[in-house]
Amino acid sequence: MKRIAVLTSGGDAPGMNCAIRSVVRAGLGADFEVSGIKRGYYGLFEKDVINMDSRSVGNIINKGGTILRTIRFPEFKEKQTREKCYKNLQELGIEGLVAIGGDGSANGAYALSVDFGFPVVFIPASIDNDVFGTDWTIGFDTAVNTAVEIIDKIRDTASSHERVFIIEVMGREHGFLALDIAIAAGAETAIIPEFPVSMEKIIKDLEENKQKGKLSSLIILAEGAGKAHDITEKIHQNLPDREVRYVVLGYSQRGGSPTYFSRELATIFGFEAIKMFKEKDYGKMVGISGNKIVRVKLSDVISGKKTISMEKLELLKSMAI
Ligand code: ADP
Ligand code: F6P
Repeated sequence: MKRIAVLTSGGDAPGMNCAIRSVVRAGLGADFEVSGIKRGYYGLFEKDVINMDSRSVGNIINKGGTILRTIRFPEFKEKQTREKCYKNLQELGIEGLVAIGGDGSANGAYALSVDFGFPVVFIPASIDNDVFGTDWTIGFDTAVNTAVEIIDKIRDTASSHERVFIIEVMGREHGFLALDIAIAAGAETAIIPEFPVSMEKIIKDLEENKQKGKLSSLIILAEGAGKAHDITEKIHQNLPDREVRYVVLGYSQRGGSPTYFSRELATIFGFEAIKMFKEKDYGKMVGISGNKIVRVKLSDVISGKKTISMEKLELLKSMAI
């Protein structure tokens, strides 16, 4: 195998650039030639490819986003689209692919490897942390830190005005981001798709907290569990004497300079991916499980379902007394 390629796909995540940097430099160090595919799987379809050398990935370790860009390309779900991509890979002399992205991108990587037996290694990168088979995805840690920094500021004004704040965070249809943010920000409640909280319970908790002298509250709402505006309205209808406000953190969680952990995870994952190519150990994802780097079959990654930690839910509850 002479030439491999690397691409970033799906929602961008802080640390993707560190992973690209690691794949390129470890790849060059292992005597591979390395191509960069622009804009995810769409770049395969369009043959939007650049040659990468060590300097191509200089000064990006601290930058959020992805220098290779990314877009959502649902057409890749169709086999005929993938057939064109595979043909393009052959024409470009690319014999292996490192795909960096979230759970959707993992499905794309799996499809490419199964359809054509094409050597693919997948690196999990998403602020959602919803990829099965790895404890952490690149960028999750940074997104939690970004959100907590903002919520600490909201806490100041919430306590000054004795207000209730609903803070809506990302995570698509999962609550991993919301739950870790809630624990780290010291929120009273996390409303997540996996474990919805009834309005009756929210009202009851707010009333009980007020009796205990807790006059301001922070409620973290995962976007997949509802809209902050609606929850705010409902609380106001039930508790007209309480001041309630909401904030939607939105895309601020997707950017920013990656934290140490996101950088180190991405660098390790990229290095491991090259080792896998050298060992001809394809069709797998690089992951981390219990602090050990693991290689997980893509068939297991896409068929598995990551579950919410009951211990973390208990922890949040016990801290919110
Ligand atoms: P993420 O990777 O962040 O979860 P998406 O769900 O948008 O983001 O997936 C990224 C890209 O992966 C999609 O735009 C599409 O090109 C590809 N993809 C997603 N799901 C599949 C699938 N089931 N089969 C093939 N390709 C897929
Ligand atoms: O998958 C990452 C993510 O940020 C989700 O948390 C969010 O729901 C989604 O991407 C937003 O997608 P887009 O960037 O296409 O609007």
